[in-house]
Amino acid sequence: MKVTVYPPITNASGPHSVTYEELERIARSAAGAIVTKSMTHCPRQGNPEPRLRSHLDNEIGSLNSMGLPNLGYQEYAKFIPKLKDFGKPVIASIASAPCAHKLPPVEQYREIALAIEKAGADALELNLSCPNLEDVPISMDPQSVRAVLHAVTRAVKIPIGVKLSPYNNVPKLFEEIARTLLDFEIAYVATINSEPLTLDIDLQTRTKVVRPNEGFGGLGGPAVLPIALAEVHRFYKFFQKHKARIAVWGVGGITKPEDAIKHFLAGASVVQIGTLFLWEGPHVFEKLWTGIQRWLTENGFSSIEEIIGQVREA
Ligand code: DHB
Repeated sequence: MKVTVYPPITNASGPHSVTYEELERIARSAAGAIVTKSMTHCPRQGNPEPRLRSHLDNEIGSLNSMGLPNLGYQEYAKFIPKLKDFGKPVIASIASAPCAHKLPPVEQYREIALAIEKAGADALELNLSCPNLEDVPISMDPQSVRAVLHAVTRAVKIPIGVKLSPYNNVPKLFEEIARTLLDFEIAYVATINSEPLTLDIDLQTRTKVVRPNEGFGGLGGPAVLPIALAEVHRFYKFFQKHKARIAVWGVGGITKPEDAIKHFLAGASVVQIGTLFLWEGPHVFEKLWTGIQRWLTENGFSSIEEIIGQVREA
């Protein structure tokens, strides 16, 4: 099942996507869909501050250890019908996290998915890769990925996307995860989530830029563009080789139209914008889309479809 997003550019789950007001701003922008902050079973305040350094030195990116602050899925279930009135797909990002009720992660995903489908969401984006919780992300364990996908794909009929961590230098794990996905009806893979376990230091104060988790957090923005392109490309090639109808949505490092074009050439059919949206707000979708269309025209193409996956070997 496909999620149709036009223009093929949305926000990435996370920045400015927690409250109804923020989501309405995305709805009113040129973004082709509305993606929520990852919602969990219980509402969460998130990690202690400071937990976000939006601008690292030389604007190389952002570093965060937010800890999934969100209103809890029951609150989002109330917003979704209102957001749908804007006439673009509402994509609910969902995640599991420790909670007083001690419901196992698979059950958390299943219960949230059922409620959110009932609320009218157009698609689910399973965030399996939050870098800032105590446990190793589900995305790093093929058996756990299988268990979540097994439960959720049987529970709901709406399209399901899966948000994954970068597997950069662990090719065996990449292969195992990619193979696992082939066994399920998945609409898309969104890659990459923030690069985990990164650190930066404020030289003025000689302190780490974020406090939780001993200062280690997730990196996004221009610094991760080549990592994201590699992940997009190898998933694209893997799915082609196995004739799987799973789309790849490119996330990571897009601050200019040319960066988005690189994602499309690598194999992305939709792109998501995280750090730039954090920095500049909802006008970025219009700005990027205009630049993407200009690039296509100037280079003799009439649609994005003509360039998806068309990168040439050197
Ligand atoms: C958080 C979750 C993510 O998936 C991510 O990439 C970055 C931060 C969080 O809320 O901690």
